[in-house]
Amino acid sequence: MKPTEFFLTTVIFAAAVILTAVLATATLRAAGGGEQLVPPATPAGLNAQQARGKYLVDIMGCHDCHTPMKMGPNGPQWDMDRALSGHPEQMTMPPAPALPMPWMAAMGATMTAFSGPWGTSFAMNLTPDKETGLGDWTVDQFIATMKTGKDRGKGRPVLPPMPIQNLAQLSDEDIRSLFAYLQTLKPIKNRVPQPIDPPEGK
Ligand code: HEC
Repeated sequence: MKPTEFFLTTVIFAAAVILTAVLATATLRAAGGGEQLVPPATPAGLNAQQARGKYLVDIMGCHDCHTPMKMGPNGPQWDMDRALSGHPEQMTMPPAPALPMPWMAAMGATMTAFSGPWGTSFAMNLTPDKETGLGDWTVDQFIATMKTGKDRGKGRPVLPPMPIQNLAQLSDEDIRSLFAYLQTLKPIKNRVPQPIDPPEGK
């Protein structure tokens, strides 16, 4: 190899090394930017278990049914002042509409009341209010509800559309995290109505 050839080969090799390094840095930056899409590991004021619970509540759609919606500039939006407090007690629902087949179910304007073949159900208050929410529940009762599909493991069956068949598959550890986070919420006094049985013969 002539000295000039050796020099050129070295330059090309060095350029390749530098290019690889630059690309790797760019990839790392992109990955770093992507991390902003997931919630911070430990939101302020929450311990690791509570933060895991918040993450699960947010991704598993608990707000979809348990946080009442209000009308905003772009249509219905969650009313976060009443986050996870369930169907508003002052909102009395008229009898459920009779739907022509094959329509099967109807939802109230707050998306917290549901009617279908199971009757009418109202999403529960998940805030830690002692009288109307989860404040007087133990973590074992919460786990038993998720695992058996019955109220506190012993009571009446939990009605649709509460996705109990999905939640039953959570690990005990994740159910504990959900409960730990829910207990950090602001307690809101809101007595959710009892479900209404379906009309005879429906
Ligand atoms: C698709 C709507 C929907 C979603 C999503 C949902 N829920 Fe529910 N949930 C309901 C309804 C409706 C009820 C009331 C059922 C009843 O009265 O039997 C309920 C009831 C409950 C109850 C009380 C059960 C009992 O003992 O009566 C708990 C606890 C609960 N939900 C927790 C959660 C948690 C935690 C999440 C998120 C991981 C969640 N729900 C997601 C609709 C939903």
